[in-house]
Amino acid sequence: MDEPVHDIDQPLQDTGTPLPGTGDTGGPAGPGAGFDRAAWEERYRTRGALWSGRPNPQLVAEATGLAPGRALDAGCGEGADALWLADRGWRVTAADLASTALDRAAARAADESPQLAERITWVRADLGERPPAGAGFELVSAQYLHVPAAERPAVFAGLAAAVAPGGTLLIVGHHPRDLAGGGGPRLLPEMLFTAEEAAAGLDPADWRVRTAQTRPRPAEDRTGRPVTVYDAVLVAVRRAPGPASSAPASSALVPPVPASAAPVSPAGTDGAR
Ligand SMILES: C[S@@+](CC[C@H](N)C(=O)[O-])C[C@H]1O[C@@H](n2cnc3c(N)ncnc32)[C@H](O)[C@@H]1O
Repeated sequence: MDEPVHDIDQPLQDTGTPLPGTGDTGGPAGPGAGFDRAAWEERYRTRGALWSGRPNPQLVAEATGLAPGRALDAGCGEGADALWLADRGWRVTAADLASTALDRAAARAADESPQLAERITWVRADLGERPPAGAGFELVSAQYLHVPAAERPAVFAGLAAAVAPGGTLLIVGHHPRDLAGGGGPRLLPEMLFTAEEAAAGLDPADWRVRTAQTRPRPAEDRTGRPVTVYDAVLVAVRRAPGPASSAPASSALVPPVPASAAPVSPAGTDGAR
């Protein structure tokens, strides 16, 4: 996946960045519209590839230094992040609303390496209806999981609850600042949020917010023109029993990083689709 300039009202290439020339102009008609399962299935079904196939840059930046364990890729799309994690030794549960995307992701994994494919469990799940089960993941990553504002607190709480003690919650989305930037007119405001908003539901007694930042990132708009987009990046660590770290959270605009229905359980402990 790679960078999304991911616009919310249309398919983006990879992280959500639309593939050049896809020309999707079908934006949502109202809050949350165009982002249900049928709409996502249709986006995937009508295109060969929606995203770039490269891992998302904020995931690479934040997970590279983590010891591999069990990871949940929430809203995995075509699976580039899951593959990257598996290649680094993680056992991955990759969940998405759209079976079309999961089929594509699983086929790519099988094609690339049976060893990698074996490390990934693909799960068809609506994380709004059924949160992940148990606190079994050392990493929960949600990269541009577009959830309507009214549903976001519950969905994010479900993702947080899936993080094992000592594990990491990584939530990345498009920052509202993008409304004034290159992709502005194509963005659906209710899908945008700040890292601070994403962190609001985390109890400080249970969580250490390591990063709550707005990160600029170079991207291209739909015409190929260079633009700067802004990611909301939340990294929080679930406190484990024992001495807690007192490292301060960073909160600033920082330089760009380089460029169902089934319950979602830790890989290896539940049945995949
Ligand atoms: C913008 S795409 C991002 C895909 C991938 N994370 C990436 O960065 O390339 C959002 C993905 O989230 C999925 N999604 C949206 N709402 C969801 C939900 N409630 N539960 C599970 N997946 C969802 C969509 O099907 C889509 O694949």
